[in-house]
Amino acid sequence: MQTLNTIEEFRKTKAALPGSWGLVPTMGYLHTGHLSLVKRAKAENDLVAVSIFVNPTQFGPNEDLAAYPRDLDQDLRLLESLEVDLVFNPTPEVMYPPNYQTYVTVEHVTKVLEGASRPGHFRGVATVVAKLFNIVGAERAYFGQKDAQQTVVIRRMVKDLNMPIDIIICPTLREADGLAMSSRNTYLDAEHRRAAPVLYRALNAAKEVFDRGERDGDHLRSIMRGVIESEPLAKLDYVSAANATTLQELDPHPAPPPSQTAATGEGVLLSMAVRVGKPRLIDNFLYENGQWLTGEVAYHR
Ligand code: PAJ
Repeated sequence: MQTLNTIEEFRKTKAALPGSWGLVPTMGYLHTGHLSLVKRAKAENDLVAVSIFVNPTQFGPNEDLAAYPRDLDQDLRLLESLEVDLVFNPTPEVMYPPNYQTYVTVEHVTKVLEGASRPGHFRGVATVVAKLFNIVGAERAYFGQKDAQQTVVIRRMVKDLNMPIDIIICPTLREADGLAMSSRNTYLDAEHRRAAPVLYRALNAAKEVFDRGERDGDHLRSIMRGVIESEPLAKLDYVSAANATTLQELDPHPAPPPSQTAATGEGVLLSMAVRVGKPRLIDNFLYENGQWLTGEVAYHR
């Protein structure tokens, strides 16, 4: 495994390694969820590149850029053990040199949910991911369902800008109690860690009534809100029951029955953001083509 810090070095090194490439973009501080993406990329490509870059343009002025957890040595050890071929680990100056002034704006799907709570976030994500695609030149790129809106934004960008890359979405990896794995979970103290699976419980409660035929958006949202509000250590930012493609909220009127929903390919995304002590946690369940993507419990070695 080789780790490269500049675009020129990366391109030169990659050019000497022929075959199909899979790219896994990350901000480091890798956990089992990230590694599941790397394993999938290994299985589906001749060669795999992982980028580690804490992207400043996707953090708001009051967000945790400076405090974002980092452990490059540990990350490189983990990636080495998975036999990753190349790691791209640029500095902010390499990615955004002086006089940098070009950004990618995906319009409607970035205005709601995370985009409403974090203005400018998806402009930063789309920009850095477009740059990484151009720098790495992989056939496939791997993203986690954990960041549901990010997957929608990136797929939209790739389609709209005709980028020659396949986007593969991988299931959310969870702890045994349902908490979605996240680098930000390290901010949870013991008490808040015990409260954090409330997101998973809220999603399951809405899934249960959905499976009994409920399609009223207000009802689905109020069920999730009720579960979150029953946990005194949790502070709700938003809950959403939305069309999985447009991210528009399901309205209070009964939508088509499940069979029709499946037939038209209209997915439903249940999602939320909740502050549990210090970190703001996000989670989601996706209902698509008649089945649920709720994630998988990770088995630690
Ligand atoms: P980061 O938060 O480091 O996540 C890197 C990738 O790992 C993302 O595709 C994310 O969805 C995925 N991931 C995180 N937690 C996961 C889990 N529990 N199960 C499965 N996959 C999980 O997302 C970013 O970085 C950045 O926005 C990035 C795309 C790298 C652009 O800067």
